[in-house]
Amino acid sequence: MKKKREILVFRDTGAMADHILGVWTDICGEAIKRRGQFCVALSGGKTPVPLYNKLSLTPYLPWNKTHLFLVDERIVPYDHGESNFGMIRRMLLGSIPLPEENIHPIPADDAAPSDAAVAYESKLSAFFNLVRNEVPAFDLMLLGMGADGHTASLFPGADALKEYSRLACAVIPYDRDLMPRVTLTFPVINNSSHIIFFISGRSKARIVREVLERNNPSLPAAMVRPVSGRLLFILDDDAGALLSKEE
Ligand code: 6PG
Repeated sequence: MKKKREILVFRDTGAMADHILGVWTDICGEAIKRRGQFCVALSGGKTPVPLYNKLSLTPYLPWNKTHLFLVDERIVPYDHGESNFGMIRRMLLGSIPLPEENIHPIPADDAAPSDAAVAYESKLSAFFNLVRNEVPAFDLMLLGMGADGHTASLFPGADALKEYSRLACAVIPYDRDLMPRVTLTFPVINNSSHIIFFISGRSKARIVREVLERNNPSLPAAMVRPVSGRLLFILDDDAGALLSKEE
């Protein structure tokens, strides 16, 4: 039986990306065999860039049966340098045969944060045919983690961490210099069949240890606990530097 939580450490983000591409291909194949489609939610940040690069070279994957969503987004136009969807569009979407109707960005380019969150929830409800309190079940949720332990746009101490009745919510930072965002909430993240954390860099090593070995409950990344799915941590040597060797 496959383990529910697995930690793999690689030499660099290129090797991490190679491994995730293999996992993606397997999960995608299984999902399409089971339900005829594969639904994946992607994160922004720098760590997944090599993965998106590699994915852009895979026109042979079943893109016509793949539906691509976003984990979180900043409230900026899509052509803004900080837009997650903008980055994914530049890196990936121009090079693969993914039909327009299979692309589901967070409508954050021209809306107030709370309106964008409501609009994204409506999109999710319609696409996944949700009734009442149902939550979507993504086949794959790709997450990053910041050096403060945030994941998606779920930051330590934020109200969004306690949001258990919404699918997506607005995140208004206390610091006015930071951008408002929209994020998927824990109920959605934790309902995924597969969750992959993609974490690199020495600045994250201490928090990686807190999350993986101390289960520090104040850290959002430690609140990612799949209801029944699998959780895979893919780290580079630097991010995994403080972990004890056995798992
Ligand atoms: C984002 C994501 C964020 C990201 C982490 C890690 O859009 O930035 O919301 O959760 O995944 O901050 O980012 P790096 O990969 O750049 O370290």
